[in-house]
Amino acid sequence: MSNLETLIANFNSQISVIENLSQLEEIRINFLGKKGLVTELFTQLKNIPVEEKKAFGAAINQVRDEITQKIESQKEAFENEILNQRLASEKIDLTLPIRKNESGSIHPINKVMEEIEDIFSDLGFEFAKGPEIEDDFHNFTALNMPANHPARQMQDTFYLQNSDLLLRTHTSNTQIRKMLNSQPPLRVAALGRVFRRDSDQTHTPMFHQFEGFVVDKNITMAHLKWTLENFLEKFFEVKNIELRFRPSFFPFTEPSAEVDINYSLENGRLKIGKGDKFMEILGCGMIHPNVLQNCNIDAKNFQGFAFGIGIERLAMLKYGITDLRMLFENDVRFLRHYAF
Ligand code: DAH
Repeated sequence: MSNLETLIANFNSQISVIENLSQLEEIRINFLGKKGLVTELFTQLKNIPVEEKKAFGAAINQVRDEITQKIESQKEAFENEILNQRLASEKIDLTLPIRKNESGSIHPINKVMEEIEDIFSDLGFEFAKGPEIEDDFHNFTALNMPANHPARQMQDTFYLQNSDLLLRTHTSNTQIRKMLNSQPPLRVAALGRVFRRDSDQTHTPMFHQFEGFVVDKNITMAHLKWTLENFLEKFFEVKNIELRFRPSFFPFTEPSAEVDINYSLENGRLKIGKGDKFMEILGCGMIHPNVLQNCNIDAKNFQGFAFGIGIERLAMLKYGITDLRMLFENDVRFLRHYAF
């Protein structure tokens, strides 16, 4: 074995047994330091015959590079080990183990809202959100209900103390907000919470509504009818649902209608879209020209339709939920039974 090979072998056996950075530093000084074994080899160069100098010089350089590189990578390995030990010792586990056999699920109300989003996204509707804390203008006045208008009494309103604000009584405020900040053509849907001072077997002070409206040129009730028919058939997963448009009144639509759908009871089970009984499902109409004007839309050139539906009612009808209040009690037995 040549001198150089012995030196490398010696280095390898030393570095293979060390356990920490300070031992590594000792080896480094031993081989690469000012008086180290490799450095010494360079001083021997001057005693070597000229014709061998070049080759010997290159050989020592190679040995030096190899040793330097091994020391560097061993240094990195020790440093990583130290860091990992530190991270492990400083770790805090913030998690809690889940309870066995317990799992979350999608609430029927959210499920219905997701379904509505799917259906109306396919029709090219944009989803908008209006504020739940609203002012009088967007909840009433702009919707063609000026102060002291008797129609305001149709909706028992929660007012905020010492403020002009209120909790929105319907998602129709979204119509106003959207129309005020964008130009037709508009195809908009809004889902969300609404609030009324009402609480009994069929009313809760907070409930959810779905509002849809379209504003464009040449919009007629035929567009409204097609849209509702398409929606209700997809939502209830039935073909040829029968709709009955009953004349009605809303201040923000003219003409206004309430829509009934047909159903039957088969062995106590509700079948929507079958049979000759009818039940009310939603309110709708052609957007009142005053509402368009209040939102700076030219009512001579543009028309629109709008509709509003209660989400709880849709959920109860589709999933056979018989008591409205069950939707809000968060009884785990109910949540498990209606888990999606
Ligand atoms: N805002 C009405 C309510 O809460 C529902 C409604 C009826 C909305 C007719 C509409 C509509 O957009 O055209 O009772």
